[in-house]
Amino acid sequence: MDLHTIALGVHILSILVAIGGILWADHSAWHWFRSKKETLKHSHLRRVHAVVGTALGLLIGSGIILFWPMKDQLLTNPLFLLKMLFVLLLVINSVAIDRLMHRAASLPFRSLTPAQKIPLFISGGVSALCWLGAIVLGLTIF
Ligand code: HEM
Repeated sequence: MDLHTIALGVHILSILVAIGGILWADHSAWHWFRSKKETLKHSHLRRVHAVVGTALGLLIGSGIILFWPMKDQLLTNPLFLLKMLFVLLLVINSVAIDRLMHRAASLPFRSLTPAQKIPLFISGGVSALCWLGAIVLGLTIF
């Protein structure tokens, strides 16, 4: 098996792990939004965040291996550049989530002020848009 095939396998597996992790995170967040759970456990939040963060890291690592032999062609492809913008936003959002998620461990959702809720919704929206965008563009370009 060559390096390209291994990297493509890691790329695809990481997407599946990320989707699983995102659904797991959304499921927990939903319970917190609906006040079925007052707060979420710190350890649980950290575990879910680590799964999605590791998958994103593996996607970037394997993506660089896949990208390198085609770099001249890809760097002039606007769809590829848009995909990279989505990936960059996911990395920035991951740092934001790392800070924001502690609210779910310390406060019930209904007790948050609108100013505290807005960043959570923005971060959720960015996450959904960028994951979907990167997956759709990945499938469209290649
Ligand atoms: C959120 C992160 C990412 C997602 C969701 C994603 C998604 C995808 C998808 C769905 C494919 C198509 C796989 C197939 O053909 O079956 C793909 C292929 C590819 N991705 Fe990504 N990707 C991500 C990050 C990256 C990064 C950071 C790079 C480069 C630095 C990259 C470079 C590539 C390349 C070069 C291919 C083509 C592989 C080939 O068919 O030879 N990806 N990606």
